[in-house]
Amino acid sequence: MSSLSAIAQDSTSDNTFNIRSDNTFDIDKIRQDFPLLNKQVKGRPLIYLDNAATTQKPQCVINAVNQFYENSNANVHRGAHTLSDNATELFENARSNVKHFINAKHSHEIIWTKGTTEAINMIASGLAQSLLKPGDEILISAMEHHANIVPWQMAAQRSGAKLVVVPINEQGELNFSIYKKLLNKNTAIVAMTHVSNALGTINPVKEIVQCAKQVGAITVIDGAQAIAHCAVDVQQLDCDFYAFSGHKLFGPTGIGVLYGKEERLEQLPPFQTGGEMIKTVTFQQATWNELPYKFEAGTPNVAGAVGLGAAIDYFNGIDRVGAMLHEERLLNYCLELSKSMDDIHLYGTAKNKTAIFSFLMGDSHPSDVGTLLNQQGIAVRTGHHCTMPLMNELGISGTVRASFSLYNTQEEVAMFFTSLTKVRTFL
Ligand code: ALA
Repeated sequence: MSSLSAIAQDSTSDNTFNIRSDNTFDIDKIRQDFPLLNKQVKGRPLIYLDNAATTQKPQCVINAVNQFYENSNANVHRGAHTLSDNATELFENARSNVKHFINAKHSHEIIWTKGTTEAINMIASGLAQSLLKPGDEILISAMEHHANIVPWQMAAQRSGAKLVVVPINEQGELNFSIYKKLLNKNTAIVAMTHVSNALGTINPVKEIVQCAKQVGAITVIDGAQAIAHCAVDVQQLDCDFYAFSGHKLFGPTGIGVLYGKEERLEQLPPFQTGGEMIKTVTFQQATWNELPYKFEAGTPNVAGAVGLGAAIDYFNGIDRVGAMLHEERLLNYCLELSKSMDDIHLYGTAKNKTAIFSFLMGDSHPSDVGTLLNQQGIAVRTGHHCTMPLMNELGISGTVRASFSLYNTQEEVAMFFTSLTKVRTFL
């Protein structure tokens, strides 16, 4: 079912970009790094299976944010004093961390944003203004999150372009042959998710980008759900833009990244205007600062960037291939246990998928299942997962979603199914 191990092998065999793989993955040690995992909910040990919504934070990230405020807090790039210099250095070091983490060519191709949503809005709004024209087509897939649909709807409305949706098959995989057929000389943008937040499907983004380039389309990849589970090398993917959020990668909320190829970012107009993003201002006009600052109007989330830098250091410090294989085992165990429950209907059975178990149990309402799981200390997400069009395609209003991270255990999977069996007796 899942092929994370294949991805892991792919990643490590790629000479341009290596992730750590040294058989040191130690789940007990990792769990000790995350203070919240030791808490109780409803008098039960917390079993946190809502990692696609946000991940928990290791102590080193919490410390980095606290230490920033305790020791280094100042505004960046503009102070004539030591604290400001320190803060700027920490802030720019974090940017450099991100550059190495996703193997971007330059640090100035890394733009700080609030998160994936802001990053995609930045691209969609800029391209609506600078590139899109009536008759152009924007290709998205049927499995997109609202954050990779609505900004493109707005861009289409503003420019007269058309939104075209690539369908998925029964397993929840992109229908690649239809995708290729839909690509044409009018395709201006292909905007697709790397990993589906509702189904876990891992899209073949490298191939998606290659095909899009043949018709000269700009490629935008929503990496929100991939960044903590796949090895992301933007040069190898060759996408024009890649967006992700810090909080899904063990970092703070309110900080995210827009990666863009230098030449694409140069062409893109600024999203917000004000301080920091200008070179000169008169009452008549303004000129823009150089990259990346052209896209960073106002005081940035410095502590968030520093925290995300620490999260990347943490993630890089563990055996990432070991973590991927661990997540794959969790998913396989889930699938095995679910076989004994014939009223479970699984959504998202792609060959390549992350550890997301999205399901309905009999005719139970997802939120009832979620509430009863919560009574037993188990945190899942229920509902449409910000993918209402996908749910419409599937003919349902929502699912119960258990989404796993590298710190979840086989025991937690077993507890989850024991609890589901109990939930069934209440419904
Ligand atoms: N997009 C996030 C999720 O899937 C919030 O839960």
